[in-house]
Amino acid sequence: MRMVDLLTKKRDNQELTPAELDWLIQAYVAGDVPDYQMSAWLMATYFTGMTAAEQSALAMAMLHSGDVLDLSDIPGIKVDKHSTGGVGDKVSLPLAPLVASLGVPVPMISGRGLGHTGGTLDKLESIPGFRVDLSEAEFRAQVKEIHQAIVSASGDLAPADRKLYALRDVTGTVESIPLIASSIMSKKLASGTNALVFDVKVGNGAFMQTQAQASKLAQALLAISQAAGVRAVALLTGMDQPLGITIGNSLEVAEAIAILHNRGPQDVRQLTIAEAAHMLVLGGKTNSLEVATGMAEDALRDGRAWRAFKQLVAAQGGDVRVLDAPQTLPKAAYQIPVRAKSAGVVTAIDTRALGVAVMQLGGGRAKQGDALDHAVGLVMHKKLGTPVAVGDTLATLHANQPDPAAQVAQVAAAFTIGATAPTPQPLIRQVLRQD
Ligand code: URA
Repeated sequence: MRMVDLLTKKRDNQELTPAELDWLIQAYVAGDVPDYQMSAWLMATYFTGMTAAEQSALAMAMLHSGDVLDLSDIPGIKVDKHSTGGVGDKVSLPLAPLVASLGVPVPMISGRGLGHTGGTLDKLESIPGFRVDLSEAEFRAQVKEIHQAIVSASGDLAPADRKLYALRDVTGTVESIPLIASSIMSKKLASGTNALVFDVKVGNGAFMQTQAQASKLAQALLAISQAAGVRAVALLTGMDQPLGITIGNSLEVAEAIAILHNRGPQDVRQLTIAEAAHMLVLGGKTNSLEVATGMAEDALRDGRAWRAFKQLVAAQGGDVRVLDAPQTLPKAAYQIPVRAKSAGVVTAIDTRALGVAVMQLGGGRAKQGDALDHAVGLVMHKKLGTPVAVGDTLATLHANQPDPAAQVAQVAAAFTIGATAPTPQPLIRQVLRQD
């Protein structure tokens, strides 16, 4: 095969065969296809899109560029979840132990934060000693023993995605639904899970800004899962404001702890329970979403989920004493209120701008490999539809510099205060299933 033939075929909007896509990926990973040809192919794909068959074939080719874990020796239906990324989304932290505490194994391979979005691994690393780089043997043993592990993808899982993602990042080809779907699925399928819950975020803090786009991505994820024999459900959930009241690694761990104590913000709790319920159904614990919801609520109420979280942290080397004293998590030196200059009600929140402000304080990464400050972040005091008086605190910045003027201004500008409260939108906009 010659790359130039595949390029002209794609340019002319013809469908590539699974064999052609497989060759393309293997040749790229081997270094036989140079970046300039792959860039042209990515751009052609960005403009012409992909058929469902191409999407699945691409995901499979990327999956098989590296190791695929086989967890079949671990009893039970293994269920993982994937969020497409948002601001303040700490749901994985209470979710994995909650589901594990009810007997469904959760082999969770998570990511780090990039740009305005946070990452589960960074949040967990706020807990002193917590290790996310378990070996494959450790990962397996832990899922077998305590039904859960939250780890980073090893260098051997889906290497094609790492190389392709870096190229997409610098060629303006990240925002392509088939490329996003195959990127996500190549990593998720490599974890050896049997079923998946997708949380596809929609809104101004998400990759997908409209429900139509989010629904298209959800359908692509469901179709690729189905082709791979993995059962899946996708929830489209709102990201027009941060989830919960905290953004930033330590602050989000403290909020996750509150959820595990059956407290915490209502939206985080609702999404944690809803995702858990779908995972319990996929994991074969019951056929009824209602029964599964009750099981999840019970496990939060009676402390089983909390105890499972402590087990998870202990198993991965984290200091469990911090969990009982969240005030000892890394704490920023300065708490700076951001005050309202006008009165009314919060009509819009630029969620991405809040995520960027936290990143600029040191809580996230502008580029892969940047160091993080786990202590910094932001606490929301006003959310959409909340009344505001002049001088009220809209949010508090947690910073390790005394006067982060640019971020204070950015956070203040992220709140739109108007006369009429916006129509409340449900947090869970839609649930999509496989055929
Ligand atoms: N997340 C991924 O894993 N891949 C993408 O392409 C976009 C978001």
